[in-house]
Amino acid sequence: MDKKKFNFKLFARLIKYVKPYKFNFIFVSLAAILISFFSIFNQYLLKIAVDDHITLKNFNGLITIIYIMIAVLLFQVLFQFLFVYFTNLLGQKVVFDIRTKLFSKIISFRMSYYNKSSIGRLVTRTVNDMETIASIFSQGLFMILADLILMFSVLTVMVILSIKLSLIIFLILPFIIIATRLFQMAMKVAFNNVRNEVANLNSFVQERLSGMKEIQIFNRQKIEYENFKKINERHKVAWLKTVWYNSIFFPIAEISTSITIGLIVWYAGFNNIGVKNSITLGTVFLFIQLSQMLFRPLRQIADKFNTLQMGMVAANRVFNILDTNEFVKDFHSNKSKTIIGKIVFEKATFSYIKNNNVLKNISIKIEPGEKVAIVGPTGSGKSTIIKLILRFYDLNNGKIIIDGTDIKKFSLKNLRSQVSLVSQDIFLFADSIYNNISLFNKSISRTEVENAAKEIGIFDFVKKLPGGFDYNVKERGVMLSEGQRQLISFLRAYVSNPKILILDEATSSIDSKTEQLIQYATNKIIADKTSIIIAHRLSTILNADKIIYLENGEIKEVGTHQELININRGYYKKLFEYQFKESENLKKVI
Ligand SMILES: Nc1ncnc2c1ncn2[C@@H]1O[C@H](COP(=O)(O)OP(=O)(O)OP(=O)(O)O)[C@@H](O)[C@H]1O
Ligand SMILES: [Mg+2]
Repeated sequence: MDKKKFNFKLFARLIKYVKPYKFNFIFVSLAAILISFFSIFNQYLLKIAVDDHITLKNFNGLITIIYIMIAVLLFQVLFQFLFVYFTNLLGQKVVFDIRTKLFSKIISFRMSYYNKSSIGRLVTRTVNDMETIASIFSQGLFMILADLILMFSVLTVMVILSIKLSLIIFLILPFIIIATRLFQMAMKVAFNNVRNEVANLNSFVQERLSGMKEIQIFNRQKIEYENFKKINERHKVAWLKTVWYNSIFFPIAEISTSITIGLIVWYAGFNNIGVKNSITLGTVFLFIQLSQMLFRPLRQIADKFNTLQMGMVAANRVFNILDTNEFVKDFHSNKSKTIIGKIVFEKATFSYIKNNNVLKNISIKIEPGEKVAIVGPTGSGKSTIIKLILRFYDLNNGKIIIDGTDIKKFSLKNLRSQVSLVSQDIFLFADSIYNNISLFNKSISRTEVENAAKEIGIFDFVKKLPGGFDYNVKERGVMLSEGQRQLISFLRAYVSNPKILILDEATSSIDSKTEQLIQYATNKIIADKTSIIIAHRLSTILNADKIIYLENGEIKEVGTHQELININRGYYKKLFEYQFKESENLKKVI
């Protein structure tokens, strides 16, 4: 978005979000008008007090005027409070709605969207950019509106009261406007520098904290400390520049206000204050007050406009995401089919990146209840097959058919609720084990989870953790070892009671006790189900009804272990000999 020009279309789109809160909007606008009215009216009352009472030494009624002044002041303060409260309230309400809408969008994009988007940026959109949008309402739009109303009213009152004194103000006004403009321009550059330096500090600290292990192992503390000092110094210098401009500008602004007051007093004095038909003392007082009421908002309005502009830039970024429509095509259907478990791949071809096929024309047939192991070298496309069954991506060519129906004809919810996945890299939320298993599904009770844990043989392991099922595993499950995380994710899959179970075995080796637990749990959860296991463990492969050997996105061999091992110079045979012979021999020795 062009930073200079105001984008009215975008602004109109943003204002649409105010519609549900139009009474709030109207009230705030009204309050802005009333505040200007009260503040000018109060000054006007002061003029009357001076002209009609104090100068004439007529104290009758003076006390009434003072009471009225107090009442007006109280109203002014009350409306000021309401104005600040309701502008912020409106901002937060609008931002709440946009943020909710944005998040509901962000959690339903198709996988390819997340692959190409930076997570950090999406977080910034949902958190920081939203705050910037809120400031349009809390610090920008209505403040500008209030200032404009006030300045306009002040100018009108001035001209009505005394053209001559108004001319003095008009004489000074251009100087103040120019000085303010220069200040604003200098500040913009200075603040940009500060922001850059803050970003530098942020990324430096963040990177060093993530790489703390490397810093300490390689004894880099002193060097990093020196580097940090340099960046910190630059940050300080950048800040001091803004302080410098501020300390020049505000005295200048004060001087011009004082000069204006001096000129008003000087002119009025030479024109015989108080003499009939001339400028009254009260008018002079009033002009002094009004000139301050004019110059103060004038000094700040550009700042507020900047806030508005920055909010608009943020709104533009957020709307760009709201306009994105990268969804998996969902076949909306209320009919939920119960899956039996026959899976067929028909000449399936798929590529993540154009013209770079990861799966090439593959055909697979899996009968209900069958246990299929997929093996093959790294990068051969094994995990991709799983992602396709779950429709994280759609095929470029060919079909995937479950129980005779193309998976595109299932609703996503229907499909995914009956296919469960234990993936290669397990993700756990920073929450209790129980919540990580039920995933906040209220229909899954604690007893159910505990019984399920007993069934797959991991109850004792969970119970031994501090707090048992309430143990908080922290971000990504860092409080657990890799093997433990796998066991938890097995339980998660088991509890969801799927018709088809997919297991992408982790490649990392684990101790033999956990290995046994995992083996037992695996057997339990795949019993009576169609299961596809990307196998790295020998025992899984040997137990499979069928083994599919995948290489380079093509199926090279299909058969049982016995069949495949008998193929001379077969792919599977070679893999088996390389990978498993050794461990088999080892087992024999043990
Ligand atoms: N999100 C992605 N975007 C682009 N290419 C991808 C993506 N995910 C995987 N690939 C590519 O697709 C190919 C197959 O990846 P896949 O994850 O299916 O391999 P794999 O057989 O599961 O390997 P491993 O045994 O190491 O887990 C690889 O060449 C990989 O680089
Ligand atoms: Mg994989």
